[in-house]
Amino acid sequence: MVATPFEERQTARQYHPEAVIDLREPWQIGPVEVPTRLVLAPMAGVSVQAFRRQGRRYGAGLVCSEMVSCAGIEHRNERTLGYLRVASDEHPLAIQLFGSEPRTMADAARMVEAVGADIVDVNFGCPVKKVTKTGAGAHLLDDPDRACRIIGAIVEAVDIPVTVKLRRGVENGSRAALELGPRLVESGAASLTLHPRSARQMYTGTADHSLTAELVSLVDVPVVASGDVTSYTRAQAVLATTGAEAVMVARGAQGNPWALREIVDGDGVVPSREEVAAELVLFVREAVRELGERRASGFLKKFYGWYLGRGRFPKEFKQELLQLSSTDEVERRLLAAAPGAIEILELLEAETPSGAEVTLELPISIYGGG
Ligand SMILES: Cc1cc2nc3c(=O)[nH]c(=O)nc-3n(C[C@H](O)[C@H](O)[C@H](O)COP(=O)(O)O)c2cc1C
Repeated sequence: MVATPFEERQTARQYHPEAVIDLREPWQIGPVEVPTRLVLAPMAGVSVQAFRRQGRRYGAGLVCSEMVSCAGIEHRNERTLGYLRVASDEHPLAIQLFGSEPRTMADAARMVEAVGADIVDVNFGCPVKKVTKTGAGAHLLDDPDRACRIIGAIVEAVDIPVTVKLRRGVENGSRAALELGPRLVESGAASLTLHPRSARQMYTGTADHSLTAELVSLVDVPVVASGDVTSYTRAQAVLATTGAEAVMVARGAQGNPWALREIVDGDGVVPSREEVAAELVLFVREAVRELGERRASGFLKKFYGWYLGRGRFPKEFKQELLQLSSTDEVERRLLAAAPGAIEILELLEAETPSGAEVTLELPISIYGGG
């Protein structure tokens, strides 16, 4: 029997575990080619278009929206529909859905396909009460039959690949993902991402990637390893020991796109203050365009700490930014603190089309409900 490229790679890694893994090697999720082995994680309250487009520039091969409520889509909630805006320069893009009703999830997935996403991802990992009490997110790890029905219904409804993101299980020590994963693949999932913490753990303890390795051995679709990947060395170790196709990075990328470049290339260049200020100003501009001044002001507050921390700027400076009443003032203050950022910002803006130019409007029929 001829080995698939996936099997060949697994065999090569088994015999040369010390070999450096090239994260710039493309891989496939069904027909979708992913240009690097780094996936930028879905993060609620973080993964806006500005974050995703920046992630692509710094080496993420696949980006993902934050989880989007299928009930919100069903009710044509305006804010929910806003999460479905796709920019032309962020492909390949996955839009993640959460919900518990197979039919509603399938309808929402049709919408995800219609707005131009390349992949529909399904959340079976969110540990937050507000989500699990509706039977969605991590709750589905305890309801495998329903989980499979959801995936089956979505696979029927769309032509794009359907992927699933899981935690290991609900309770500490659970191995539910290892039973459910193969069944989800049988139901049509084209790839699985495992964050091997229990829902109960939330973000405490460490991600146990020995489970990721087990999952890889049980399924014949690509597995993505999520959890505690923050450096090139860690990414190499996780890929080598699990056989996963790619690593996913979440918290490590908050206010730190440079970490993505380091993880992909092993290029550990520390950004200058000017580079940090320029990226943050661009991010602020893009977030305002996307969310409007009022929503963006609140949304951006956490990003100031993330960008300016890590010894990049004095603590008081972040406090100062938090007191300012408009994002224009934030921008002026940042550029005053690092005047060299102006030139970098001009270059960045020349290289990167503004979001307004690249964002595809949602088809009218979607707003109309047709
Ligand atoms: C603020 C925040 C929001 C998150 N939101 C989502 C989400 O919407 N969907 C999802 O599947 N995972 C979500 N996650 C989980 C991450 O995608 C990821 O699996 C987890 O943080 C472990 O990766 P890390 O160690 O690189 O942070 C979120 C994590 C954080 C920190």
